[in-house]
Amino acid sequence: MIKEKLYEGKAKILYPTDDPEIYLAHYKDDATAFNAQKRGQIQGKGEINCTIASALFQWLESLGIPTHYIDQPSAHQMLVCAVQIIPLEVVVRNIAAGSLCKQTGLTEGTILPFPLVEFYLKDDALGDPLLTRDRIMILEVATPAQLEQLQQLALTINQHLIDFFKMCDITLVDFKLEFGLDKENKIRLADEISPDTCRLWDNKEIDPQARILDKDRFRRDLGKIEDAYQDVQQRVLTQIAKL
Ligand code: C5P
Repeated sequence: MIKEKLYEGKAKILYPTDDPEIYLAHYKDDATAFNAQKRGQIQGKGEINCTIASALFQWLESLGIPTHYIDQPSAHQMLVCAVQIIPLEVVVRNIAAGSLCKQTGLTEGTILPFPLVEFYLKDDALGDPLLTRDRIMILEVATPAQLEQLQQLALTINQHLIDFFKMCDITLVDFKLEFGLDKENKIRLADEISPDTCRLWDNKEIDPQARILDKDRFRRDLGKIEDAYQDVQQRVLTQIAKL
């Protein structure tokens, strides 16, 4: 019996299961960008993103990163631990792109001297504003200890992912993470890691548009979106199988 959905986001629908500690995440083909001002569909995206995220979550777990991943019962469905999402989007950047270039004037492609960790408020109505540490304290979305833990987890995950994608001949430009608290109040990596939430550049291509293997192909109307997502899936699964 299909249960009433708990929550529907831009890319996923969350359903309860018979176990109150476990939710079922259904990955959709819907694509949105610029705070849902641009909408579309990417054929097969749900299955691809669910498969990539499942593989990466399992691999990160094996490296000691707590995640919400439990199982992938079908291609576009993931069973996850019922965490309470911390309303922060944690962005890690290694190379300047996207909003960092727009807001600072840095040229796209500039290698940053150190990984930049940023916190944005997860609030569509406010347009997910960039926060400062003090704003986070005033909003009480995380305690100082949790914020420190999020920063450290983000940096550790970044290093693991940089190394992993390098083996896939892909440069990890930047990405967004979300975290949640489980019933023991332990922080777990949640949401997804996929070409929707990362900027991934193909090391085999020099052309600045041809190298894009992520959602920027949709944001910037570059075409061949499905091909790029499939390419990432294939490289990720091939590399995971070798580890
Ligand atoms: O747009 P911006 O440059 O700030 O995005 C940084 C990174 O975070 C990109 O990889 C983008 O795909 C990801 N992101 C996301 N969801 C958002 C905002 C950004 O996955 N709501």
